[in-house]
Amino acid sequence: MDSDTSRRNEGSVPEVKELLAATATQVDEHLPRYLPAGDRFGAQIVEAMHYSLPGGKRLRPAIVMESAETFGLPGAEVLPTACGFELFHTATLIHDDLPAIDNSPLRRGRPSCHTAFDEATAVLAGDGLIIAAYSALAAQEEVARVPAGAIVRVIGEFCTFTGATGVIGGEAADIRGEKQPLDRVLLEYIHLHKTAKLFEAATRAGAILAQAPEEQIELIGSYGRTLGLLFQVTDDILDVTSCAATLGKPVGLDDQAGKQTYPALVGVDGAGQYAEQLATQARELAEDLPANSEFWQGLIALTLERRT
Ligand code: IPE
Ligand code: IPE
Ligand code: MG
Ligand code: MG
Ligand code: MG
Repeated sequence: MDSDTSRRNEGSVPEVKELLAATATQVDEHLPRYLPAGDRFGAQIVEAMHYSLPGGKRLRPAIVMESAETFGLPGAEVLPTACGFELFHTATLIHDDLPAIDNSPLRRGRPSCHTAFDEATAVLAGDGLIIAAYSALAAQEEVARVPAGAIVRVIGEFCTFTGATGVIGGEAADIRGEKQPLDRVLLEYIHLHKTAKLFEAATRAGAILAQAPEEQIELIGSYGRTLGLLFQVTDDILDVTSCAATLGKPVGLDDQAGKQTYPALVGVDGAGQYAEQLATQARELAEDLPANSEFWQGLIALTLERRT
């Protein structure tokens, strides 16, 4: 690609923000339909599930929708799958904040779930949201244009990318790595699994549902994985450089817990340089995507400069 074309495709951060805000509105309207109604004895769990949802950036569902759009399927047609990703992600945040994991009292600008309710309720609300995620993924079947085989494939991949071989495995490694000597190989494993796998799954899901060619599914998945790594490096930097009022979650917890992070391993400047390297890799991958390149390029810029 010549430099003129690459400049044209850089993607503007304000435009991406606008698009993300619009998809967040759609996702927020759609999410409650996958939450069960509380009955006489289960009302508190359902309340805790609802409590934990507001305030997120809704990045992962937006990625599912944009990926489908990139391959010719309107984003609105994959809203059930997009919601599935957000429900699972929210569950991981509830569990991540528990005293046994990161012990964080604040999430999405409010007391974290176990702080607002109690630990047992938070464990179960997270479990409930994970199950609700599968209800949403299965509800994709109501959209006639998407073949059942593609939906089953997405659900199967979702298990691999989120379970003990994915996000949950990453969270386990993250806790085991606390107060251990800093180890780049372990740190890469943690970032890849706890965060990048869900971004990879989200990019792949939209493409699979839109019946993209296999090599394009791989390509957009590589972009998603790289963006996810970038997202976690910037998260680790913000834990050192930002403040709770801006982030809506505490800062300094990583250092306090002795976490494996890039700022701990190579300093904030070194972590920033690594973020730039990942952004370059992601930009190269985005150049080869067949459409919506402004969005994919803009998302990299937004992640690099993000404040929340
Ligand atoms: C937080 O993710 C967890 C990480 C992977 C760092 P987000 O920053 O996307 O959280 P919300 O959904 O906007 O609250
Ligand atoms: C969490 O990473 C990733 C998951 C929840 C799976 P962090 O522990 O760094 O996320 P924050 O900083 O609490 O949002
Ligand atoms: Mg954590
Ligand atoms: Mg945490
Ligand atoms: Mg963090």
